[in-house]
Amino acid sequence: MGFLKLQGCSALIYFCLLFSVYEAGHVTIKRSIDPSASYPLITDDRLPKDVIPQSYDIHLEPKIEENAFSGIIKMNLTWKSDSKKISIHAHFNLDINDKKIVLRKINTNNSDSQLSENISVVRGSRFPKKTIYIIYLKEAIKEGSECILEIPFEGSIWESGEGLFKGSYSNWTYLATYLRPNNARRLFPCFDEPGFKVPFTVSITRPSHLFTIFNTPLNRTINHSTLKDYVIDYFETTPPMSAFTFGFVTANLKKLQNEIKLDEDTSIQTEPVLSLWGFEDNANQFKEIHQKVIIVHKAIQRYFNVSLPLSKIDVVVIPELQVVRPVDNWGLLLFKESDLTQNRYYDIAQELIYQWIGSWVTPEWWTDAHLNKALASFLAADIVFKIDGGIEFNGKYPMTTLYSIYYEFSKRYPHSRITAMKQETISYKLELVIRMLNFTLGKDSFQRGLRTFIEEHQYKTFVGNDLWSALTKQATMHGTLNSQYHVDDIVDSWFAIHRLPVVTVRRDYEKRTAAVQQKLYLRERPHDVPEQEKMLWWIPIVLNRQDALNFSNCTPYVWMERSREMTIDNMPPSDQFIIVNQEEIGPFPVNYDERNWQMLSKFLQTETGRTLVPTYTRSKLLHDAWNLAYAGDLSFATALNMTLFMKFERNHIVWNPVFTFIDQIGRHIDMPEVHKRFEEYVLILLTPLYEDLGAETEGEDNWKTDLRSLTKRFLCGAGYRPCIEEAKNAYSVWQHLPDPNLENPVPNHYICPIFKWGSMEEFQFGIERVLQFPKSRKQNERTYLLKTLAGCPTQPEKIIRLLEQSTLEENSNFTENDQFLIYSSLTATSSGHYTLLKFLSGNWTTIREKLINNTNLWDHLIGSATGFFLTQKGYNMVHQLYEEHAGEFGSAQHIIEKSLRNIKEEVLWSEENLPVIETWLNNFLSKNSSNSS
Ligand SMILES: *[C@@H]1O[C@H](CO)[C@@H](O)[C@H](O)[C@H]1NC(C)=O
Ligand SMILES: *[C@@H]1O[C@H](CO)[C@@H](O)[C@H](O)[C@H]1NC(C)=O
Ligand SMILES: *[C@@H]1O[C@H](CO)[C@@H](O)[C@H](O)[C@H]1NC(C)=O
Ligand SMILES: *[C@@H]1O[C@H](CO)[C@@H](O)[C@H](O)[C@H]1NC(C)=O
Ligand SMILES: *[C@@H]1O[C@H](CO)[C@@H](O)[C@H](O)[C@H]1NC(C)=O
Ligand SMILES: *[C@@H]1O[C@H](CO)[C@@H](O)[C@H](O)[C@H]1NC(C)=O
Repeated sequence: MGFLKLQGCSALIYFCLLFSVYEAGHVTIKRSIDPSASYPLITDDRLPKDVIPQSYDIHLEPKIEENAFSGIIKMNLTWKSDSKKISIHAHFNLDINDKKIVLRKINTNNSDSQLSENISVVRGSRFPKKTIYIIYLKEAIKEGSECILEIPFEGSIWESGEGLFKGSYSNWTYLATYLRPNNARRLFPCFDEPGFKVPFTVSITRPSHLFTIFNTPLNRTINHSTLKDYVIDYFETTPPMSAFTFGFVTANLKKLQNEIKLDEDTSIQTEPVLSLWGFEDNANQFKEIHQKVIIVHKAIQRYFNVSLPLSKIDVVVIPELQVVRPVDNWGLLLFKESDLTQNRYYDIAQELIYQWIGSWVTPEWWTDAHLNKALASFLAADIVFKIDGGIEFNGKYPMTTLYSIYYEFSKRYPHSRITAMKQETISYKLELVIRMLNFTLGKDSFQRGLRTFIEEHQYKTFVGNDLWSALTKQATMHGTLNSQYHVDDIVDSWFAIHRLPVVTVRRDYEKRTAAVQQKLYLRERPHDVPEQEKMLWWIPIVLNRQDALNFSNCTPYVWMERSREMTIDNMPPSDQFIIVNQEEIGPFPVNYDERNWQMLSKFLQTETGRTLVPTYTRSKLLHDAWNLAYAGDLSFATALNMTLFMKFERNHIVWNPVFTFIDQIGRHIDMPEVHKRFEEYVLILLTPLYEDLGAETEGEDNWKTDLRSLTKRFLCGAGYRPCIEEAKNAYSVWQHLPDPNLENPVPNHYICPIFKWGSMEEFQFGIERVLQFPKSRKQNERTYLLKTLAGCPTQPEKIIRLLEQSTLEENSNFTENDQFLIYSSLTATSSGHYTLLKFLSGNWTTIREKLINNTNLWDHLIGSATGFFLTQKGYNMVHQLYEEHAGEFGSAQHIIEKSLRNIKEEVLWSEENLPVIETWLNNFLSKNSSNSS
């Protein structure tokens, strides 16, 4: 459905209405967009390795009032080969006067190492278009020499978060730094690459009434020699670290007074001390966060079994910090207040994990940052499971991410839109692959492998291979990985292709074997992605059988070593099902033969079945079944049978995929008679759940409130009587207001059911409210009304009424924008676009005359009226219009031709699936309709 894609959300109004609610109900695990996901796009201004730093001594002097700073850096450098120049990073905005650069060579041969000689600097200049500064020397310096390079510099304080910036909170001004990923060069000249890790000895000037917090604790403070009311803080030397983890904040900060030393667990050191800081008047609001920081830190420390080489970590909360994500300097975390409002362990854990993997152990280059991010996110989830059993996730980890990845990667053209999104999705996928390793290698091997990895790479950088090797070694030793295998190969197969596989298991019930097959997972038709036969993955086949159910054993029965097909034996007797990839261990759906599916469906309809099969697995079976049917890989009769157990299901995690199913399949049934039956089925499916949920009670869990409102919305959409009654009552209040133009007292979720199920009179009342909508009121309320007027009704009379008034009437109060909106919204229902097409064809001459010169609107009308049919009947209607008015389409000629091509694809799907769906529904309704309301 190419057209659908082009139009994006705006063309799918009804769907969008539903979907926005759907999303509101099923809140995703909110993750702020992580800029590290786009690090691979950062330019590569790499430095030569002939001269390298050993340590830095930095003095910084911010002049807050002047929005400027000055400073001086002394670098201790070593020559790795003879060289006549020194290359360092310095941003264009950093002013350096080459006349003031001093280079002194340390006389290492002499026993008195204080002796030094000055080397003349010829000049310093910038590398064109790069943030590299080159210092040319009068003479070449020999390999093995040591020098002290002294550079004074000046720069600006910015208003937003890059380099050194200034912000304010009520009447207070603060200074803070944000040097990720490569902005240290904005603050001081340096070797601004992760691999150059050196100790920093730092002093910073501040006004005496403020306070500065740096990576390391304060050593001493002295009065400034020339500036009155200013002091200089000297901080303890840092451990060797990359320049981007440098950070400080200067503000009127106050420490929360319940500092706790981590000394309960004697097996690990008591350091670092964790303190929480806020502005003077907000510090005490964060007691609970402080507790969480301590709990999380302890859990991470226990997981890695090693303490950070820091004596303190300061966590600073700044109400309106102007950065996208928290600032994780080593030993100093800066959070926006809003980063913490959800008060979750997860966000804190993610940032603290970066202290180990990120600052202490650092990705070699920004291209590896996505791995760092994926690992940190996975570990943060693991820590949350350890702390509260995952209650905080409410079942959303990893399902929310996983489902969105299933949908994205199974498109014909994944990520056709935004690059940053692509990086983000790739990183999520990697996180799921890491999760798969945790399960299949076993959490012990995984954890020990990570510990070794940290030990071997502390104060250093790493690439992916380093991590995978550590895991391979450990897992081979533990016997959880075949000694012929390498984690590298496994991860590569998942990482090389930005796609996902689907596994099909077909059992031979006589021979008690099963043929296991992998192929590219595609949901959107046609499945004609080039080169797909070359896409193969390393896939763990974790198997559960009915006669020996054990969902805690995640050891693969076998790995598919990038083989397309294999046979496994020792299958259970023919009356016993199997389940592959329980709990979504690997990010791939699984298909079975119909007999196995049918056994699963039956089992889940029993009390025992629902007790024995864990939540994520029930959810997976349901989700896989309907998505495979949607893709054309499974009969709808089988998939619909998998929904039968929902009658008894009360877990919101398992219900979650059902709403997407109703929405997507519902929209794909482009036959009003079948669609009506589908709605009856939806009523029978959802009513028991809704009745069980009962009325809202105070203090109930969020999931319950969300599930109730979602269920209600879908029930209303399907014509649930009690809902329509309520909606009519609410609407009648509006109809009886003295001036209904002034306000709309009807809750939004009742409006669609009224226009769909209500009378013509109620509908006309809605049209008038749009036409007489006062300019003084919020226009988005008008837009909502208009969208629902067009997107909800199924009776052609209503739609025709709306079209007559908006399209045919002279001097209509509907604007051109309104017309756009109406045509788009009509495409949401099959009655909508059927009626639009008939209306267009019945009033061809008039409409054409009015609109043909308005190319945008005309094209949009033709696209909306022809682009959304999915059946042969629809194809015939569009084709008839095309023939009857050949040569009259003007600019929209190619649009109707494209519609015809697209419908052809969809017709195949409809012809194959609609009769099956219809038969199944008829059968289901004949057995269940007494329950129907
Ligand atoms: C420079 O660094 C080297 C290596 O760490 C060290 O031995 C030397 O003492 C340092 N020199 C100065 C002047 O700090
Ligand atoms: C900001 O306001 C508080 C009280 O409202 C006052 O005590 C404080 O001195 C003010 N700070 C500055 C920098 O003006
Ligand atoms: C401050 O630094 C000096 C010199 O490095 C050291 O001897 C002293 O112990 C430090 N003082 C504190 C309070 O850490
Ligand atoms: C890692 O695996 C263990 C069991 O092997 C499991 O308990 C834990 O929840 C897994 N971690 C995550 C985040 O899935
Ligand atoms: C669906 O379930 C019904 C009732 O158990 C059964 O009769 C029918 O054969 C099943 N259909 C398929 C395709 O498995
Ligand atoms: C069109 O708008 C005018 C001014 O808002 C209003 O008076 C008139 O009633 C509207 N026409 C219709 C048909 O509602």
